[in-house]
Amino acid sequence: MPLSEPLTTPPTEPALPAGFRWGVSTSAYQIEGAAAEDGRGVSIWDTFTARPGAVRDGHTGATACDHYHRYDEDVALMRGLGLDAYRFSISWPRIQPTGGGTANPAGLAFYDRLVDALLGAGITPLPTLFHWDLPQALEEDGGWLTREIAYRFAEYAEIVADRLGDRIPAWITLNEPFVHMVYGYALGIHAPGRTLMLDALPTAHHQLLGHGLAAAALRERGHEVMIADNLTPVWPASDAEADLAAAAAYDALHNRLFTDPLLLGRYPDLSAYGIGEDLGGCVRPGDLKLIAAPGLDGLGVNYYNPTRIASPTEADGLPFAQAEIEGVPRTAFGWPVAPDGLRQLLVGLRDRYGAALPPITVTENGCSVADEPGPDGAVHDQPRIDYLAGHLDALAEAAAQGVDVRGYFTWSLIDNFEWAEGYHQRFGLVHVDFRTQERTPKDSYAWYRDRIARHRSPR
Ligand code: FCB
Repeated sequence: MPLSEPLTTPPTEPALPAGFRWGVSTSAYQIEGAAAEDGRGVSIWDTFTARPGAVRDGHTGATACDHYHRYDEDVALMRGLGLDAYRFSISWPRIQPTGGGTANPAGLAFYDRLVDALLGAGITPLPTLFHWDLPQALEEDGGWLTREIAYRFAEYAEIVADRLGDRIPAWITLNEPFVHMVYGYALGIHAPGRTLMLDALPTAHHQLLGHGLAAAALRERGHEVMIADNLTPVWPASDAEADLAAAAAYDALHNRLFTDPLLLGRYPDLSAYGIGEDLGGCVRPGDLKLIAAPGLDGLGVNYYNPTRIASPTEADGLPFAQAEIEGVPRTAFGWPVAPDGLRQLLVGLRDRYGAALPPITVTENGCSVADEPGPDGAVHDQPRIDYLAGHLDALAEAAAQGVDVRGYFTWSLIDNFEWAEGYHQRFGLVHVDFRTQERTPKDSYAWYRDRIARHRSPR
């Protein structure tokens, strides 16, 4: 495989803590393909992508990166980076095709092979149990709107842990419950495509309850437990009281709704939304204890960008309005690039939660670049290198300011199925030609490999 030459080292690269873990992240539906193989059940993403207009150009994850058959090649790419760990997700419909009952042996066997391949390459597997691909059968029973699903999730977690747990020290229960609630159930941009607006709130509680029950089961088996939250520093549009109040309301919904119950055992004040502490009646006595009690060995932070918030107009119908962030570069997706937002976010978490904040691992961070191989066959994705370098510097700065940061997993190893955007947004360190499945490491691949090596052997 053609590898680009190492790029120049910045003269002042701030140091990350000793023992820091380097990784990459992916998720099952976005890379595996093999949607109808080996007894995999239907997932809500199979159903959603079949809906006309739901995904750009009608793309689906039916084949994706064909990782299901090419995992050996992908593990070799990871080995080439010198990674400590790999964050991937397990497809619930592969394990329990109808969302409950006996496990599908072929589904478990795939992850068995993957885990062994990783260990053979000296890479620690860090699986996420739920990265949005719910078995369709569970959605038909109401999905995360129901309380029952939390118990189903814990059963599924036990099945997987009993099979793979002898080789896996730590688990991530859920990926970004906020995004799943908002995109999946409130706005209908992601599967299952519901448009419930604030009536989607019970999905936050049921995901957290599922986390708590699964975490307790994992803990009982001697495992470490993390969750991966999508968090954002909230920038008020001005110092005006109305903007500050709107920013606080947004912060409560995006960040605190997920971190407060986990770390403090209570929900934040959602009175700006007209919602009480019982989240509209779905919280039962004892639930918050179940959510907080297992504790977290680490908080996974998925960070992409800050959010600017202004006071709303009546037409917004919510206690906040999103405002543009001006004067910063943008990714191909149009997301603002603000590396210092990561430092602000982490320092803010430490200040808010103090001793209740567990060690932090950045479980996703990366950017989409419209990159293709050039005439020389290489992929020159300098904007991604700049993005990663800036965010790693911000992370080092957060560590220098006393935040306990333990690792960094970039999103993503390879270009993949980017949800509602299909194959249009490329986030990989490795380019994938989706017609031929050819993998071409980009310049950022060589840069990341060298960044990891410099950390291990500083000059
Ligand atoms: C995150 C998702 C991940 C990926 C990145 C770009 O919100 O967790 O699957 O799509 O965004």
